Amino acid sequence: MARSGTVAVIGAGFYGSTTAQRLAEYDLFDTVVLTDIIEGRPEGLALDMNQSRPVEGFETKIVGQTTGADGSGYAAIAGSDIVVITAGVARKPGMSRMDLIEVNARIVGEVADNVAKHTPDAVVIVVSNPLDEMTALVALATGFPRPRVMGQAGMLDTARFTNFVAEELAVPVSSVRTLTLGSHGDTMVPVPSACTVDGAPLTDLLPADKIAELITRTRNGGAEVIALLKTGSAYYAPSAAAARMVRAVHEDSGAVLPVCAWVDGEYGISGVYLGVTAELGRGGVRRIVETPLTDAELAQLRQAAQAVAAKQADVHNL
Ligand code: APR
Repeated sequence: MARSGTVAVIGAGFYGSTTAQRLAEYDLFDTVVLTDIIEGRPEGLALDMNQSRPVEGFETKIVGQTTGADGSGYAAIAGSDIVVITAGVARKPGMSRMDLIEVNARIVGEVADNVAKHTPDAVVIVVSNPLDEMTALVALATGFPRPRVMGQAGMLDTARFTNFVAEELAVPVSSVRTLTLGSHGDTMVPVPSACTVDGAPLTDLLPADKIAELITRTRNGGAEVIALLKTGSAYYAPSAAAARMVRAVHEDSGAVLPVCAWVDGEYGISGVYLGVTAELGRGGVRRIVETPLTDAELAQLRQAAQAVAAKQADVHNL
């Protein structure tokens, strides 16, 4: 595929910078723009990343740009087809994602205003936490059609679950398929009925209590990393997940991926940003793809939707 287009990554912390580097290494874009409010950080990282181009063999150019609270510098993202919002504060040990809601709502709201102004036609992928609420906030603040605003969570939770299953059974990760829906947090909904290893149902390969243990570890996957790192949260697996979503949009691939998307009638659920599987393309979410669920899984998904909807209803007050 010939290189084309520009993707912007807002926030040049751990998550944003690794996402920018992964996107550049795909060698699919003309330009990756990386911004941050810390003077010189995005420019310095872009310089460093550009110097990796001859070694890694990619031509995509990385442009770093400091932005100000007054919106200065945002002209650099104009013309971006896709914008990834990673700006915000990360968790520290012992914090829940929800503990970040007020501070990140302020940051993400300000970023969203500038995104709406400078890239009015872009597809936006939100990764800042708490994820479901920040995604709803970006949709509200930008006023973009909802298919053009989505969040990254399910790709990551599913990847964690898959990795744990592969390690438990000592099989390649490529032979394992898992699925999580719902929210990125306590109301994550694992879908064991959709999990397979080389096509065989996971429920035939592992006892129920072992599957439950792996699900708990998946649900706490972010906290487990934070407890070890002590400062900062996970970014290698999260950036891999976000970059893959960007790629599906850029390539108009129609890939069906677990993402946080606007649900409007599917599963009997309406009016909420929730983790579901969706087909992605140039315009963002083409459609939600309903996965067959057991009655128990469906009940859990509806419960998750209620919990998330209550929080999302408040985002305009933040
Ligand atoms: N505009 C642009 N960048 C901002 C703004 C803003 N208004 N406010 C903060 N930032 C930048 C910070 O300067 C910092 O460089 O966001 C970056 C956040 O980086 P890290 O602290 O390294 O956090 P990171 O691990 O990248 O996580 C970012 O993703 O997973 C979530 O919970 C996590 O919400 C957090 C986000």
